[in-house]
Amino acid sequence: TNRTFTMIKPDAVENGHIGGILEKISSAGFKIVAMKYTQLSTRDAEAFYAVHSERPFFGELVEFMTRGPIVAAILEKDNAVEDFRALIGATNPAEAAEGTIRKLFATSIGENAVHGSDSDENAAIEGAFHFSGREIF
Ligand code: GTP
Ligand code: MG
Repeated sequence: TNRTFTMIKPDAVENGHIGGILEKISSAGFKIVAMKYTQLSTRDAEAFYAVHSERPFFGELVEFMTRGPIVAAILEKDNAVEDFRALIGATNPAEAAEGTIRKLFATSIGENAVHGSDSDENAAIEGAFHFSGREIF
């Protein structure tokens, strides 16, 4: 469908990249329909990344995602999920294409600046995790 969910992760917030990342998102034609500055609890992060709970980096991932504030947002555009994954680039910034958000702003495979939903179904689940209906415009 036409919506995806994103988070500007703690590394990018710490490094002063909120503005730069929002500029890339807007320039690429995404409309922000919901947005908040918030911090994940350990329980939130474990639930959000439950699909990775058996992976060796899970503890590190939860520590990282909870260590400081994030920006959570719902974005609207035709083909939103696929186009946003293209805009952010590969999980590992060393492998991300030139001009992508992760190439520009990420530090490492773990601290990779942004999240983007990987399917329409997950976009809806993840958006609802952070926003009520009256917070989406
Ligand atoms: P998200 O948009 O955040 O879901 O990233 P992704 O879809 O590109 O990657 P994936 O869902 O496979 O992994 C989720 C997150 O786990 C990544 O964005 C990283 O923050 C972290 N992660 C993935 N692989 C590694 C790894 O090998 N080491 C560490 N430390 N973290 C990893
Ligand atoms: Mg993912």
